[in-house]
Amino acid sequence: MTEDKSGRFHLERKTSGLQLHKSGERGGVRLSEHDLRRRLRQGKRLLLARACAAGPGVSVLDATAGFGLDGLTLSALGCSVTLCERHPMVYALLEDGTHRLGSAALARGDIKLLQADARDVLRGPDRYDVVYLDPMFPRRAKTALPNKRARYLADLLGWEDELLTELVTQARRCARRRVVIKRRRLDPDLGSPTFALRGRVVRFDVYQATL
Ligand SMILES: C[S@@+](CC[C@H](N)C(=O)[O-])C[C@H]1O[C@@H](n2cnc3c(N)ncnc32)[C@H](O)[C@@H]1O
Repeated sequence: MTEDKSGRFHLERKTSGLQLHKSGERGGVRLSEHDLRRRLRQGKRLLLARACAAGPGVSVLDATAGFGLDGLTLSALGCSVTLCERHPMVYALLEDGTHRLGSAALARGDIKLLQADARDVLRGPDRYDVVYLDPMFPRRAKTALPNKRARYLADLLGWEDELLTELVTQARRCARRRVVIKRRRLDPDLGSPTFALRGRVVRFDVYQATL
């Protein structure tokens, strides 16, 4: 699939990698090495890293992987990461970005890619130390999305709230150690997290397993 149903978005292969283009707009979007490097400057001090207790030996299911920035960050911090994305065009971008930016971990088997609905994966037999969820945020008139990648994703995919509660319930059954959910800083809780790490724009709600 190289074009979405509405015909507003299409994929284009450049020498720098696969890009998502929106008709009527100049330039496309992809995950770049610069994005990942900038993210990794904070290393384990990143809220994402602390929320997931990232490090060697930790297995993570990034159940809503998108372009893969969060998942590849966790991989670079030593986690073995399974990246799951259900939308075919976004999955193509994820696969391309992972081959460009995570090839060594991919070759070692420390990154796995799944084109699937996370609900099916969470219902399956595999367990992960951490299940990480970064759902689409509901659109708010006054809130600007942080970057062009996020804007394009929101336009392409929209937002599905009813699925989120279902995903969280399933994730809590599947995670050996914790479920981590990225939320907007002031969004309501989905249940009672064990603790939350708050940043300027987003927060990470952490639900520790009680097994
Ligand atoms: C906000 S984006 C994730 C961004 C990602 N954390 C990153 O760093 O690039 C959310 C993604 O979750 C995917 N998604 C939503 N529900 C899903 C589901 N049930 N199974 C798999 N992927 C899903 C959407 O297609 C979208 O690409």
